[in-house]
Amino acid sequence: MTDPTQPRSPRHTQPIDPQAYPQQQPPQQPQAPVMPPQAPAPQPAPQPMPQQAPQMTPLVPGAPGVSVSQEAPLFGGLVGVDPTRERPILSVRDLEVFYGAARALRGVSFDVYQGEIVSIIGGNGAGKSTTMRTISGVYELLKSVKGQIWFKGQRIDQMACHKIARLGMAHVPEDRRVFPQSSVEDNLLLGAYRRFKKERRRIRAEVDDVYDRFPVLAERRHRAAGLLSGGEQQMLAIARGLMSNPDFLLMDEPSLGLAPILVREMFEIVNDLAAEGKTILIVEQMAVQALEIADRAYVLESGVITIEGTGQELVEDPRVKEAYLGA
Ligand SMILES: Nc1ncnc2c1ncn2[C@@H]1O[C@H](COP(=O)(O)OP(=O)(O)O)[C@@H](O)[C@H]1O
Ligand SMILES: [Mg+2]
Repeated sequence: MTDPTQPRSPRHTQPIDPQAYPQQQPPQQPQAPVMPPQAPAPQPAPQPMPQQAPQMTPLVPGAPGVSVSQEAPLFGGLVGVDPTRERPILSVRDLEVFYGAARALRGVSFDVYQGEIVSIIGGNGAGKSTTMRTISGVYELLKSVKGQIWFKGQRIDQMACHKIARLGMAHVPEDRRVFPQSSVEDNLLLGAYRRFKKERRRIRAEVDDVYDRFPVLAERRHRAAGLLSGGEQQMLAIARGLMSNPDFLLMDEPSLGLAPILVREMFEIVNDLAAEGKTILIVEQMAVQALEIADRAYVLESGVITIEGTGQELVEDPRVKEAYLGA
């Protein structure tokens, strides 16, 4: 299991500014922590306390009856950890999602910290895309949501998707959703359409940055997106997500339908984006690569998180090997 006191990744070089997300704070978490609480602190020798009931030494801040200062709010995954040290950029708490009467997510909780790659793996129908769409605020008929989602200190589970995007989150959807009749370049510009008039020069620079990153898109800039190969369309979908200049990326099965060599390339791109300081939540069905690049990972099964750990721990976990890595 993850030791929450250890830095999660060599990419964790930037100090976390405790004032970084000042707007609101999530509530204290009365429920069980997602990560194991730390070993109890050594208890002082019991003192006789004549008039009062004996006082318990608080083992887990945030547990019922334990007061926690307002300056040091806690997120779920940090229960038991020095709360001023670091705070998740994304915190999903007890998320339940229903499509009509059918429950697709059954109380999912997890955290993503700044600069991490976190992977969620799970089979077809496990609820991966539902998780992603619910985080990014995609509206769906018949969908109802319980639980909480916090992003950069704000509660976003009732927020419209364009507002969530403005907070710096981009969603690269499973089905890629490129506009097949439009050119590669127009698809990219659509990724920035909200800023079109005011920031034309900056957008041009971003398109050029995207072309530097994906030279194949530069070559094909005037070609209709529908004529691109699967790998190129996936690059276009990622590139379009980057056009909104996000610092947090949700990637839904980016390797789906790609040839093995392109899968490797895709994960190299993900690694590069993380090395540049972006935080990435990725869901994948069977990809060992998704675990290999992950700082931490979760297994989602039938709407429930069943296993969590570092990417390496999950790669080596026999249950994961058998069910997801084809071993
Ligand atoms: N828009 C929808 N309407 C009704 N049911 C849905 C919808 N999207 C997903 N589901 C159901 O929710 C469950 C989880 O689906 P999904 O999140 O797409 O899983 P995954 O991405 O892991 O394959 C499945 O049972 C699926 O049939
Ligand atoms: Mg899916």
